[in-house]
Amino acid sequence: MMYFGACYYPEHWTPKQAKDHIPLMKQARINVVRMGEFAWNRFEPEQGRYRFEWMDAVIQALHKEGISSVLCTPTCIPPQWAVQKHPGMLQRDAEGRVRNPGSRCHCCKNAPEYQMLADRIVDQMGRHYAGMPGVIGWQTDNEFGCHRTTRCYCDHCQSAFRDWLLEKYKDTDSINQAWGAAFWGFEFQQWNEISLPRHMPAGPNPSHWLDFARFSSDTQVKFQRAQYELLKQLCPNHFVTHNLMGGFPEIDYWKLAEYTDFPSWDNYPESGEDPFLPAYQHEITRSFRGRFWVMEQKSGPTGDANTGLMGEQPEPGDIRRWTWQAVANGADGVCYFRWRACLSGAEQYWHGILDHDGVARRRYREVAETGAELAKLGDALAGTVVQTPVAILRNYAMLWSAERQPGAPGFHYDNHCYEIYRAVKRSGHGCDFVDIASDLGKYAVVFAPCACLVDKALADRLDAFAQAGGTVVLTPQSGARTPANTMWAYPRPGAFVAMAGLTVEEVRPYHHGQTEAIAPAGGSSPVPAAAVENWVEVLTCREAQPVAQFAGGRLKGACAATRNVRGKGTVYYLGVYLPPAAMETFAAAVLPPFPVADIPPDVEITRRTGKQGSLLFVINHGRQPQTVVLPKACPELLSGGTPGPEIKLEGNQVLVFKL
Ligand code: GAL
Repeated sequence: MMYFGACYYPEHWTPKQAKDHIPLMKQARINVVRMGEFAWNRFEPEQGRYRFEWMDAVIQALHKEGISSVLCTPTCIPPQWAVQKHPGMLQRDAEGRVRNPGSRCHCCKNAPEYQMLADRIVDQMGRHYAGMPGVIGWQTDNEFGCHRTTRCYCDHCQSAFRDWLLEKYKDTDSINQAWGAAFWGFEFQQWNEISLPRHMPAGPNPSHWLDFARFSSDTQVKFQRAQYELLKQLCPNHFVTHNLMGGFPEIDYWKLAEYTDFPSWDNYPESGEDPFLPAYQHEITRSFRGRFWVMEQKSGPTGDANTGLMGEQPEPGDIRRWTWQAVANGADGVCYFRWRACLSGAEQYWHGILDHDGVARRRYREVAETGAELAKLGDALAGTVVQTPVAILRNYAMLWSAERQPGAPGFHYDNHCYEIYRAVKRSGHGCDFVDIASDLGKYAVVFAPCACLVDKALADRLDAFAQAGGTVVLTPQSGARTPANTMWAYPRPGAFVAMAGLTVEEVRPYHHGQTEAIAPAGGSSPVPAAAVENWVEVLTCREAQPVAQFAGGRLKGACAATRNVRGKGTVYYLGVYLPPAAMETFAAAVLPPFPVADIPPDVEITRRTGKQGSLLFVINHGRQPQTVVLPKACPELLSGGTPGPEIKLEGNQVLVFKL
């Protein structure tokens, strides 16, 4: 079943104002609402006195009209009494400043009082709602780490960090060794000498910093795990999810998503922005557990709580297109944020389906039309999933390492992953994301962008995948560092040397916008001529063959990219960051064929496949008409016709074909 919903805040409305909400929801075919994530003060107005009847009445009224409820644990904002009583549970930033109450996300997940209070409210809510008709699942908290609060520098965190390190390293000698703490006299004799990487005159030891990033992420995961396990025990018939933030870089979502039945994410695209950015985050979120919801889908102008600025109005057709894009990339539920714009508070400007006055206008009508379309395709969508032969390795420790030490100015690990993703998408293929221990068996091609933290186990896994017939693509900075974030004392690309069949002779970060020309080399090269910048590596081939070389200047003739035949497969090493057009050419050459060729730049094509065949989604994200040629004419499910094989798409148009 496809869930189609809205985020609803009954505590913001008087009964008179709320009177018309449920009938309007029903007319728009909304079948689920998400509620409660900021209402701890209403659920527990005094410590230990719980009030659920106000929410029960809403759940019951919704249920009567066939609308289910996803409830949230409200732990993101403890009531004022809790903070007054336990001020020590407020977070501190790296400079030691308190993160004060008055907004949200201000409590430290390592503070024992906060953990205890959070545990109790989750327990009470779980018990109260376990058997209530209409409640189908839970969202824990809200967007862990939002407003850059993943990393807290308070004293609770300091002692929890020491415990975390003790568990990982067992003794100070091991930590000194792992961190290379001889540098700048950073060696420890006692655990209580170790502190957090708080503000200091120069940059922290990268290994210390990476462990702190890992610890901070683990803190969030632990908090999620506690809620997940408690809710699963109390409410075995409900699902438990958390609303992630797509490409948010601070939490290892691979670990966090283990403690969900499926993850969700919150999607706030801008009209006219690169349409593959939301797709990237849909596919990242889907990859954690194979399915996902969009728990907050933008449905009106945004309103920034910090700047006080109101965002742009979605253009006609945008909300519908964003919704179908989520479904096309595998979402099984889409909930709009929010049902109606709030009259008060920091997000007054953050609009929803309805404006402040609650009048159903253009955006409401578009939501209602989309709801009717989704209901129409419900049977066809049931049981279908996205399958793809392409994967991108996206690992959070590598991201954190590169965040701290990008090497060259402007380098960003996630942007690099995204550039590769975009190139793959342009070929028509979707992408799964994988982590270092994921099973690669179902893929034909695995990209491992900037795989900088590498040990033998990861290299062996990728090598085995290649030897068995797969294609692996490595890019600059690969294999340079140990998992502890120290440098390997071996030639780059370290543990990848054997599978890539080369060594790196020289690395050259470019700071002043210099470019190098590269040209194809060898016989049939997948790498086109291009101008590259930021960072280049000069490669020395062993078993590998050059596929690109530098075409001018001091590096003229030196090798820039290689192909190595490895067992039944192939390993490419790109010693340069290919610019977008060149990356598209490269991807098209190394990926399996896709049934639709020459896809226009604004058009996205995806497939969901089930027992009864595949659905092909064709979405024109642009404003101009586009043409796509399908392999043959197929039934189009939204219009009911059988157009093609040549299809004309209007701007913002979505078509769904049955293959
Ligand atoms: C999300 C958050 C919501 C709301 C929305 C609009 O990040 O989960 O609670 O704040 O943004 O700002």
